[in-house]
Amino acid sequence: MERTHRRLAVQERNDPHRPPKRQPHTSKVQGQRCYRIAVIPGDGIGPEVIREGLKALEAVSGKNGFRCELIHYDLGGERYLRTKELLPDSVLEELRQCSAIYFGATGHPDLPPTLLEQGLLLRLRFELDQYINLRPVKLYPGVSCPLKDKGPEDIDYVVVRENTEGLYIGAGGFFKKGTPDEVAIQESINTRLGVERCIRYAFEYTRKRNKEKKLLFCGKTNVLNYAHDLWMRVFNEVAREYADVTTEYAHVDAACMWMVKNPERFDVIVTDNMFGDIITDIGAVLQGGLGIAPGGNINPKGVSMFEPMGGSAPKYTGKGVVSPLAAIRACAMMLEHLGETQAARAVEEAVKKATSEKLKSLEAGKMGYSTQEVGDMVAEAV
Ligand code: IPM
Ligand code: MN
Repeated sequence: MERTHRRLAVQERNDPHRPPKRQPHTSKVQGQRCYRIAVIPGDGIGPEVIREGLKALEAVSGKNGFRCELIHYDLGGERYLRTKELLPDSVLEELRQCSAIYFGATGHPDLPPTLLEQGLLLRLRFELDQYINLRPVKLYPGVSCPLKDKGPEDIDYVVVRENTEGLYIGAGGFFKKGTPDEVAIQESINTRLGVERCIRYAFEYTRKRNKEKKLLFCGKTNVLNYAHDLWMRVFNEVAREYADVTTEYAHVDAACMWMVKNPERFDVIVTDNMFGDIITDIGAVLQGGLGIAPGGNINPKGVSMFEPMGGSAPKYTGKGVVSPLAAIRACAMMLEHLGETQAARAVEEAVKKATSEKLKSLEAGKMGYSTQEVGDMVAEAV
């Protein structure tokens, strides 16, 4: 059997010969905080939405007394078509020296699925060990919600998605490929270390968020008798250290139902990589769609990466019709992560102002403004 174990991360992580993690590059220049931000606009609409996010960043940094050194990287489908390079090792090394990465989108209509996803986006997440994918689900005032009778007070929760293991690592293989007897195996890898650090992060996050202090593990323990048995045991064990956090469990299928029926019951959800991918698209649509849904790929001790959740949207590329608010909110998440809390708030407030006072819709072509106009509006408001 031809088997490709792309990455058994735990071996790498436990390798005693590996150099210790460097702290993200942050410096002071003449007493001013200075962050080195790697900007990877990527494919499709990526560059147009990232441009607007950078406008907000520029505006807010001036007002809050810090500076950003931006380093632009041309990576993605176009670069690959030109040079056959996806993520050169030298670039990866430079990224390790940055304070954070601001990422646009990946996906190219002329390239096969999985090439860019595995070669660029997932490779970044894995190589930089960004083991949390943090995805807030928050309905902003003025944004129309597809759920009847639900408003901003009902839709405000956060999904903590495991981001470096599970079905995503590309473990498995084909047997007798292309024949009628073909077998395809895709394995879900769940390590004690990977599961525990994700669950611990979720407990800490729930405590710090300090809203309802309620953490729900979303799994499928009635079927995934190995993977989610481990998750459930670790969840219950770690819970004992957090007496102030109320814990709950839901099967993923039931959780999907509740998200549509009673989204107000959620505070923080922790889940594995694959389920997290799926349920956060429900989360995205509850808060107005991919035009406003951001995500953070977090390595608490390394370099984290912030991105709008949506893809490259080739059919809208270059038209200036898509909402940049997801990219702008990703920028706010990046600021929060860097410790620039005030700046992050200012950006969020500016987004709120845009949704509640100006935008007609978040759908492409229906905002009542162009991508650039929305970016200007937010940058002015901060
Ligand atoms: C996301 C995306 C990615 C994922 C794809 C592009 C590989 O859907 O960030 O949710 O599945 O994680
Ligand atoms: Mn997804």
